[in-house]
Amino acid sequence: MRVVSDLDTWLRVREILDDVSVGFVPTMGALHEGHLALIRRSAADNERTVVSVFVNAPQFNDPSDLQGYPRSLEGDVRMAADAGADIVFAPTHETMYDDGYRYRVTECDLGRTLEGAHRPGHFDGVMTVVLKLLNLVRPTRAYFGEKDYQQYLLIHGMADAFFLDAEIVACPTVRETDGLALSSRNVLLSPEARELAPRFAEMLAGAEGPDVVRRRLEDAGFDVDYVEDIAGRRYGAVHLDGVRLIDNLSLEDDE
Ligand code: PAF
Repeated sequence: MRVVSDLDTWLRVREILDDVSVGFVPTMGALHEGHLALIRRSAADNERTVVSVFVNAPQFNDPSDLQGYPRSLEGDVRMAADAGADIVFAPTHETMYDDGYRYRVTECDLGRTLEGAHRPGHFDGVMTVVLKLLNLVRPTRAYFGEKDYQQYLLIHGMADAFFLDAEIVACPTVRETDGLALSSRNVLLSPEARELAPRFAEMLAGAEGPDVVRRRLEDAGFDVDYVEDIAGRRYGAVHLDGVRLIDNLSLEDDE
């Protein structure tokens, strides 16, 4: 396992990978079973797997969220290696944003709804860093979790729009046994909030329409950003005890 943080070293390491299939799992660290499932899938599909660990400031619209975001590089490297990663790329902010974030990617339709409507600038930050990372890593396949389904759709669309070589692969959401979708933010929940949190996924899956589900969530104590059905999928975002949780599910089959 190699950990690379500077650009020149990374470019030399990338040359060694020219003749093999490369799987790529971009992360912001604080790895959990959801990330590890992506890494395992990548290691099964590709000869080499690269994991990036980079807390991408431009995608945080809330400075206190960025400040409080869990960071644990040493543990992340160990977990990534155990799951089958070969290289961790952990660049600095200066390396990724030498342009001062003057250049950025915007999607003007889906990117303005749901998370985009509630977190101004979030998807510009996500798509910009993913484009930069895809250009640096040049993977055969890149893996994204379905918990961030809107993010997956936007990245898939970006790869098509800009003729990127990488295949963009979606992997199923990993959940705790009580149904809570795994997220790096879950560690920030108080014990009481953690107890209530699984009701979010449970209520989101209710047979009622989005307005009824929204009211039920509010009655249960969630502060709801949105519950919306779009193109056969239900998306929800809530705040619980100052922690923001998102989830989604297919309305069309029992995926
Ligand atoms: O899903 C995430 O963790 C981030 O949005 C990503 C794709 C690593 C970009 O910073």
